[in-house]
Amino acid sequence: MEFVYHLAVVAHMLGLAALVGGYLVAVTRAAEGLVPNVVMVWGARVQVLTGLILVGLAEAALDAEVNNTKIAVKLVVALAVAALTEIAAARSRKGKAVAPGMVHAAGALAIVNVLVASLWK
Ligand code: HEM
Repeated sequence: MEFVYHLAVVAHMLGLAALVGGYLVAVTRAAEGLVPNVVMVWGARVQVLTGLILVGLAEAALDAEVNNTKIAVKLVVALAVAALTEIAAARSRKGKAVAPGMVHAAGALAIVNVLVASLWK
C-alpha cells in the first residue's frame, strides 16, 4: 500500500506542475486576454482529487498521523483555486469577459498552497 501512496504523491506533484506551469504559460499569453488553459484547469482538479486520496490512504491504509488543521487549510485553498479556474474557463468558453484578477488569484493561491505544504510542519 505504501507503493500506491507514493504513486499518489507523484500524481500530486504532477498536478502541481500542471497547475503552476499552466498558470505561467497563461500569463505569457496574456496579450490575447488572461484566461486559464486546459492544463491549469486539470491541474487544479487533480490537486483536489490526489490530495483527498493521499489523506484517505494515510489515515486508512498506512495508519499515519496527518495534521488536520494544515489539511483543512490546504483543502479550502485548493477548492478556491479550482472554483476560480473553473469559473474563469467557463466564462472564456462562452465568450464572456474574464477578470484577469481571477486567474492571478488562482495562480497566487496555488503558490500559497505550496508554501503551506512545504513550510508548515
Ligand atoms: C493547489 C493545491 C495543492 C498544492 C499546490 C499542493 C502542494 C503540495 C506539495 C508541494 C506537497 C509536498 C510537500 C512536502 O513533501 O514537503 C504536498 C504534499 C501533500 N499534500 Fe498537497 N497540495 C495541494 C492540495 C492538497 C489538498 C487539497 C490536500 C488534501 C485534502 C493535500 C494533501 C497533501 C498531503 C497529505 C501531502 C503529503 C504527501 C507526503 O509527502 O507524504 N494537498 N502538497
